[in-house]
Parts: sequence; structure tokens; C-alpha cells
Amino acid sequence: MKASDVIAIGDLAARAGVSVSAIRFYEVRGLLSPFRNKGGQRRFLRSDIRRLSFILIAQQLGLSIEAIGAELAKLPDGRTPTAKDWTRMSTGIRALIDDRIATLTRTRDLLDGCIGCGCLSLERCGLYNPGDRAAKRGAGARYVLGDEPLL
Ligand code: FES
Repeated sequence: MKASDVIAIGDLAARAGVSVSAIRFYEVRGLLSPFRNKGGQRRFLRSDIRRLSFILIAQQLGLSIEAIGAELAKLPDGRTPTAKDWTRMSTGIRALIDDRIATLTRTRDLLDGCIGCGCLSLERCGLYNPGDRAAKRGAGARYVLGDEPLL
């Protein structure tokens, strides 16, 4: 390994625009794995800049630390995501975002029925699920998932 392949934590933080403590947090959570030099200081591979970029973008897209870790764990030998990896990962993330948008759209539409109503009826309000009656239709937030409220 050449000296130019190695980067100190402060340099990695500066390159990514995050704090040193943020990088330590990602290290503790297993998303980054620095090694120690002879002096015992943390050192990262220059390729970790790209790995950190992936982490930051994935967080911006709403993925949890656990989900990001799961994606990174799919890469052999803990390597940094390549362009091909990112294409595959971003396709999966897009599907997750589409699901969230669909869920939020249904929730907003149910809420539209409440605006100007104010009944807060446990029987009629589509946002309420009294006694979890909708559970017999399956797991999850049934009304938000598209089922009609039970009357
Ligand atoms: S508050 Fe009346 S339908 Fe929700």
C-alpha cells in the first residue's frame, strides 16, 4: 500500500464535510473500518472517501444506519461500493422511496377526509382503527396501506 492510499481521520472529515466525531460514530457502528498505523493513529484508505459518500447519500435518502450497514455488508471483503454496486443499491433505495411516497399519499388522502370534519369519530374516521379491527385483513397499517376503513 502506498502512503498516498492512506488518509488521516481529519482529512477524511474535511473531504466529506463532516465532523471527526461523525466518522468515529460510523466506525463504532461498523460502517467504516480504519486501521492503526505504527503510532496507533487511525488511518483510512483513500477509497473510504467513496464509502463515506455512500453512507452520507444513503442517510440523506432516509436509510437507517442498520439498513446502510446491511447494504455495505453485501459487498465482498468490506470493499467500497463501485459504480455498478451503486446502480444496484440506488435501484433498491428508489423502490423503498416509492413505497414511502405511496404510503404517505394514502395517509394524506385519509387526512383530507378529516380536514374540516373534526368529528374524531372512533367509528367513522379513516385514520382510526378501533380495537385493531383491521388486523384481520393482514399485518401493517391497513387503512394507510389502502384498505377502506371498517364502519
Ligand atoms: S375527523 Fe372526521 S373523518 Fe377523521
